[in-house]
Amino acid sequence: MTTENGMLFDESELDYSGELRAADVKECDAVEVMTRLAEKIERWDREYYVLDDPSVSDAEYDRTFNLLKALEEKFPAKKSPTSPTMRVGGAVRSDLAKVVHSRPMLSIHTETDFSAEGAVAFDKRVRNELGLTDEDPAVRYDCEMKFDGLAVAMRYEKGILVQAATRGDGTTGEDVTANVRTIRTIPLKLTGKDVPDVLEVRGEVIMHREDFVALNRRQIEVGQKTFVNPRNAAAGSLRQLDPSITAKRTLHFYAYALGEVSGERFADTQSGVLDRLKKMGFPVADNRRVVEGPKALEEFHREIQMLRPTLDFDIDGVVYKVDSLDLEERLGFLSREPRWACAHKYPPEEATTVCEAIDIQVGRTGKLTPVARLRPVFVGGVTVSNATLHNEDHIAALGLVPGDTVVVRRAGDVIPEVVRVVTEKRTDGAVPFVMPAVCPVCGSATIRDEEEKDTRCTGGLYCPSQMKLGIVHFASRRAMGIDGLGEKIVEMLVDEKVVTSIADIFKLSEEVLTAPLTKQDETKKRVQKRMGPKAAANLLESVEKAKNTTFARFIFALGCRHVGEATALSLAQHFGTLAALEAASVEELTAVEDVGEIIAQSVAAFFKEPHNQKVIAELVEAGVKWPAVPKRTESSAVAGKTFVLTGTLPTMSRDEAKDLLIAAGAKVSGSVSKKTDYVVAGAEAGSKLEKALTLGVKVIDQAEMLALLKADEAETAE
Ligand code: IVH
Repeated sequence: MTTENGMLFDESELDYSGELRAADVKECDAVEVMTRLAEKIERWDREYYVLDDPSVSDAEYDRTFNLLKALEEKFPAKKSPTSPTMRVGGAVRSDLAKVVHSRPMLSIHTETDFSAEGAVAFDKRVRNELGLTDEDPAVRYDCEMKFDGLAVAMRYEKGILVQAATRGDGTTGEDVTANVRTIRTIPLKLTGKDVPDVLEVRGEVIMHREDFVALNRRQIEVGQKTFVNPRNAAAGSLRQLDPSITAKRTLHFYAYALGEVSGERFADTQSGVLDRLKKMGFPVADNRRVVEGPKALEEFHREIQMLRPTLDFDIDGVVYKVDSLDLEERLGFLSREPRWACAHKYPPEEATTVCEAIDIQVGRTGKLTPVARLRPVFVGGVTVSNATLHNEDHIAALGLVPGDTVVVRRAGDVIPEVVRVVTEKRTDGAVPFVMPAVCPVCGSATIRDEEEKDTRCTGGLYCPSQMKLGIVHFASRRAMGIDGLGEKIVEMLVDEKVVTSIADIFKLSEEVLTAPLTKQDETKKRVQKRMGPKAAANLLESVEKAKNTTFARFIFALGCRHVGEATALSLAQHFGTLAALEAASVEELTAVEDVGEIIAQSVAAFFKEPHNQKVIAELVEAGVKWPAVPKRTESSAVAGKTFVLTGTLPTMSRDEAKDLLIAAGAKVSGSVSKKTDYVVAGAEAGSKLEKALTLGVKVIDQAEMLALLKADEAETAE
């Protein structure tokens, strides 16, 4: 067993395959191996129960724990009296007041066989214990979800919540009364004649996944540590010395058992207990059911597994409980575990593996996404070999270095994620990851967007990854306005390699457009063409028309990040010519109205990229042109003013009116506010007109708008 470097066993074996079995351990090594395992478990228990910050996955913990248990069974004489397997639960946090439980809070036997056999084995044990034969009827079970949170006992005296305690080590828990009172769904007072004098309700405090994600986001914002999973976030939030912190976290509670109860029997069945608790106002989860026999248990297990990804919160299995409380009494306990209940778990959603490399993917918008290439690992029911890492900051927050051992999580259909790094397993010489300075797809320079915290390829006009979206935007109505060049056609033209750059749009011919598709659908009889002759002719006509554009539209069409219509117009008016815009420095760009540092950086990087320059030159060469940009005058009646268009104008569409106004330097907004200068109202104007009248905004018609524009023109001409 002892390896060259003096280690008792290869630890990695334990992590990935759980190969070390009790059968492999010889008697002479037993004490040493068991001590090692116990030490590990003690450390992990402390991380889990005291620090709320575990470093290993549940699966790795369970495997190690079960191995120790198996060794203790094999060598009973060597079992330590202080072994962690003797504990019912975890540890008690020393700075919270202690509470001795009226009745111990026990754990339940966990069926480690994830398959249907787990349910069959449990039913068999129960029938055996009860001395039932095959002729006897099926046993009735109450089936529930197994919540993945922390167990809490709440004591009501004369209907008033007087104490709440965590499970702690099962005998002694921590006083969290003030904290539990902040959980909104927990009743503070029970009313009604039938409330027992003493009633202890037990259940699970959990955090919903959505709230967990939001909490971690807030923690990052304020520079605090994040939580590993919703369970630890729930535990960390409840076990606070200051209840005002608990109050800020959204926690939920679900009741599933009773502790001490005074007076008559509360109910005759477990399902009856839950029904009555629900009536009293306690949250009791749906998705529970009373069934008969092992087949139905299996069915429940399977059904809830399907529901699992759609739930608002994490569960790690289901719990079967003998429904009749008479039978429960007869069954009793076996070494601190009830014989009448059993947890049937699901395959773990978390697993430990190695991140072998970090690769980069370039998305349709040019965003560079780092992806972890993982040593394949079975998690959440599938083999996972990749996980998204979102961006550079996420990698930094994780503290991930290629080669690290990582915990991967995959719940349901959710994309696998690296949830944390097992830093202790980092090997020497690990080289930190850096975002590449050039796009791995097209070689253009990359730029980091500080606002969005991501990195993008600046070769928007050139990068194959961005081609399709780029062309659709270029052709769109308010950009170059090329009719008939929608998403589907663009997709086809790019896939057919007819268009490899935006400039290729102006080189299209009828012959190319109506040629047969390279990839023919074999099932169809007739030859499929790229386009019909009519559609091709229409497209060519609108391409030709689109060559005559405005400078502002052209800038907008290039699809430079952060440059919307308004910014494009400001740039056009400020620089006047393409040459001037291309030569502008970041500093010069920030001098433009409405252009801040981030836009300026993005624009400068875009025009500096040689790949983009080449495409722009090709566009101009292909005949794209625009009239000289009129200089904006300060005294303009329209420039800088905000207009809202509403209703049907007599001789032009609202879109045409918008173009005219924008070209003259006006802003056109979709909604009326106090800042609106003019509302141009046509026939059947509705709520916008009403709002203008209430706010006292000036309302004009199309003729008055044209007059304002005319006045401007006259001034510009002077
Ligand atoms: S019954 C004596 N029902 O699972 C049995 N437990 O090891 C009392 N748990 O720590 C527990 N969902 O926190 C029961 N529907 C459920 C449960 C549940 C989660 C937890 C509980 C306990 C552990 C049992």
